[in-house]
Amino acid sequence: MTESKEYWMRRRGFILAAIGSAIGLGNIWRFSWLAYRNGGGAFLVPYFIALLSIGVPLLILEFLLGNYFQGSSVTAFKKIRDQLEIIGWIAILDVFIIGTYYSVVLGWVMDYIGYSAVVAWKDVGAGDLFGSLIANPWLQLIGFTITWFITWITVYKGVSGGIERASTFAIPVLWILSAILVIRGITLPGADVGINWYLKPDWARLADGKVWIDAFGQILFTLSVMAGPLVVYAKYMPRNSELPNSAWITAFANCGFSFFFGFATWGIIGYMMSLQGATTPADLNVPLGGAGLAFVTIPTATSLLPGGIAVAAVFGTMFFVILWLAGYTSLISIVEPVHAALNEKFGTSRKFNVTLITILSYIFGLAFIFRVDLIDPVDFIAGSTNLVWVVLLEAVIAGYFYSLKKLRDYANPYAELKLGEWFDFLIRYVVPIIMGIILVYGLISTDTMSPISGLVLILLIIASTVLAGSKWKTIETT
Ligand code: PHE
Repeated sequence: MTESKEYWMRRRGFILAAIGSAIGLGNIWRFSWLAYRNGGGAFLVPYFIALLSIGVPLLILEFLLGNYFQGSSVTAFKKIRDQLEIIGWIAILDVFIIGTYYSVVLGWVMDYIGYSAVVAWKDVGAGDLFGSLIANPWLQLIGFTITWFITWITVYKGVSGGIERASTFAIPVLWILSAILVIRGITLPGADVGINWYLKPDWARLADGKVWIDAFGQILFTLSVMAGPLVVYAKYMPRNSELPNSAWITAFANCGFSFFFGFATWGIIGYMMSLQGATTPADLNVPLGGAGLAFVTIPTATSLLPGGIAVAAVFGTMFFVILWLAGYTSLISIVEPVHAALNEKFGTSRKFNVTLITILSYIFGLAFIFRVDLIDPVDFIAGSTNLVWVVLLEAVIAGYFYSLKKLRDYANPYAELKLGEWFDFLIRYVVPIIMGIILVYGLISTDTMSPISGLVLILLIIASTVLAGSKWKTIETT
């Protein structure tokens, strides 16, 4: 090792960083839209089942793996079996790929913080403004560069001096600003109608398998469970730390945030409906989820708020600051595990690794800036499909190639919430079966699998093979 091991200063810092990884763009623009499409309040049932059956157990497992093996998934899987190291690299490189396009979107958000200050959409209209941004690489480069610069400095400064500090600041601010938006949202005329669309239960929707797939897929992405960020974050807790309850807190803070923020979004949608006399949200003819919600619908809505242009500027800025902080703490957690894996295997320093990762992500990110249409097919494989089979393998490795009882016995003496055999059952049977079902379901509905997705998958596997095959410079002695 070229550096002595780093630690969080406080348990609170660890938990806030984990929550920071979990809360991201997905919580703000995806959750409430999924709920609306998939049965409203009824969607909370599959979502909660997904959270309890796979989300929390996987989160606990990742905390245990990282802390027990004192390493990233590369080290952990290698210590379990030499040949399994490659699975760790697949996870790590997949996180890296997610970062290349996640940061591009975050760059747009940064640009929109600037746009909000002058309410740039007031004359051209929000749809045209967004269209002109994604058609203009130079404008995108501004926010993209600032975003990477701040992220680089943060991770460069290390675990307690950079990541912990950033999360300890960003997460409370995120909640406070969100609370202000929620209060504004729910007190607008017509808000109740929108919130009713968000949460009105339609139980019949639960008969549709796609609703369940959406719930389970969203849980993986939103919790960042993918043998990447959270394993490494737990590595930086001392041995003999509380882990299971930290996982529960992370999970509930994350899902609670998604649910909470939905009130801001749907309060505003209800307000727009009442202004336009729309009977359903679809009548508004604006996107209700995804990038369209963030970059078109919300800006449009801010201009309709009572109080005029200044109010639009304030609430627009607030919304994009929230979105950026949420994404920034996730992007940090994307860079850190790549550094950790490189450091463990090659002994390279934090400063070197973080700079290298930033430069490479920046270069790959340029591809998405010039070809925005590549984001979807790459996200389909790296941000969605791969998570499912990587997590499946993670559960199988821990559950069948290693001993879950050993991990439980390791964690339980310090645990506020003890792990019982239910944990083994969920990891050994429930996670693999559910992931298997999702994969098969995905294979038979292959409409979204494009050549780009396939190419990324092949490159990912080749690069992981090379990394797993190269020589270890450092021998872990712990
Ligand atoms: N959890 C983050 C979100 O909801 C995304 C993310 C996935 C971050 C994987 C890191 C790793 O936006």
